[in-house]
Order: sequence, then structure tokens, then C-alpha cells
Amino acid sequence: MADLTNMTIPRHVALILDGNGRWAKKRGLPRTMGHKEGCKTVEKTVEIAARMGIDYLTVYGFSTENWKRSVEEVGVLMQLFRYYMVRLLKIASENNVRVKMIGDRRRFDQDIIDGINRLEKETKENTGLTFVIAVNYGGRDEIVRAAANFCKDCREGKADETHLTEEVFASYLDTRDIPDPDLLIRTSGEIRLSNYLLWQLAYTEIYVTDCLWPDFNQEELEKAVVQYNSRERRFGGVTG
Ligand code: IPE
Ligand code: IPE
Ligand code: MG
Repeated sequence: MADLTNMTIPRHVALILDGNGRWAKKRGLPRTMGHKEGCKTVEKTVEIAARMGIDYLTVYGFSTENWKRSVEEVGVLMQLFRYYMVRLLKIASENNVRVKMIGDRRRFDQDIIDGINRLEKETKENTGLTFVIAVNYGGRDEIVRAAANFCKDCREGKADETHLTEEVFASYLDTRDIPDPDLLIRTSGEIRLSNYLLWQLAYTEIYVTDCLWPDFNQEELEKAVVQYNSRERRFGGVTG
């Protein structure tokens, strides 16, 4: 285990949890078994992040492009989602975790929408880690929905396009009230964003590990935090 004493703990960690399919394939199992195992890892990671003192953890659970997968795989993911939403209620209350979902939830079945609303409502007073789950989420989709809502507010006289700033625009995104991520972790070696948090990741430090998502653990998260501490964040300025 790495010694994190005197290290800066990133306030907001964003995760692209990738590699469930490959994890299963390596073991001769169906891809869906990888998703099952991956869900257990998400549960454990929430507890680890809460203990480590991370304030916001945002995980990419299902992208706007993941509907392209087979009906069987999407069906299993939806079933897992149903099951873990209920488990998360318990985990969130035990760990003082507030849960939020980003993405366009309108595409899900009504019982899933109801589950999401319940999870957010029943955990909203918790004061520890904010656990953000991106489902039916795409960065481009989020930006287009924000632009459409801004235009609507302009038409209705609630907003004024001559006063549009980055701050005003950000307040129309799903992540309003959530600070931008400090550290992005992607598992399983792929070096791309896959339409994740395109606006919010502007100055985020990126860490990619070959570890497949179901194998991710406290040690892997600590390695990412140690690496984060060796980075010099400049935000376009000059230091040193
Ligand atoms: C990530 O694992 C989980 C989701 C995208 C839902 P993958 O299913 O993408 O696993 P690989 O990339 O095929 O190994
Ligand atoms: C990104 O992983 C989406 C999630 C982790 C939910 P993908 O596996 O869908 O991304 P690509 O297709 O490899 O870019
Ligand atoms: Mg993948």
C-alpha cells in the first residue's frame, strides 16, 4: 500500500471503468460475467474513495453509444443497474454518501427512472462523498441538451444570450454544482475519452492503467493518487 501521508487527495476523481468484457474473455466467461464482477468493484471503490477523503467520485456506467451493444448485453446491464440501485441505498447510508446521476435518464424504463429519483432523494442530505453515476451519458449529448435548455430560457425571458459566459453555460450542464474533475482514471489501457465529460475535463490530469476494471482495488487507486501528486498543474499559466 502506498503511503498517502502529506499527499494531496484529488477533490474530484472521474473514472472510466473499462475492461469488463476483456476480464471475462480472459477467463473464458461471457461478457456479462465481467459486468457482474465490475459492479462489485464499483461498490468497493465507493467505500475506498469515501475512506480516502475524496469529495466527488464520478463513474461512467453506460454511455449514449453503449446502446449499440447486443440486446442481451444491454438487458443484463439494465438488470444489474436495477439490482445495484437498491444495494446502493444501503451502501450510501452506511457511508454517508450522496448519490447523483448524470446523463439523459428519460430513455430508461420507468421503474429505473423511479429508482434513480428515489436514490437521489433519499441520499441528498448525506454529507460525505458525492458519488456521481453517468448513465445514458455522452458529453456531446449533455452539451446539446444544455444549449437547447439555454435557448428555451432565452425565449421565455429567463436568460439573456448577451450575458452568456462559461459559468452561465456550465450551470445548464448535468454537472451544475459539481466541481470539475482533478484526476481522470481510465482502466484497461485505452487512451481516449469515449465522449466522457468533454466540457468538464478541460484541465483534468489523466491517468491510464492497464488494470482491467474488475481487478481495480485500493492499491490501484493509491497508485493513481501518487502519480497525480507528481504532476504540475498549470492551467495555461507558467510556474516554477
Ligand atoms: C466497461 O467494460 C463497461 C461498460 C462499457 C458498460 P466493457 O464492456 O467496455 O469491456 P471491454 O472494453 O469490452 O473489455
Ligand atoms: C466507455 O467505455 C463507456 C463506459 C465505460 C461506460 P467503452 O468501452 O464504451 O468505450 P470504447 O468503445 O472503447 O471507446
Ligand atoms: Mg470497453
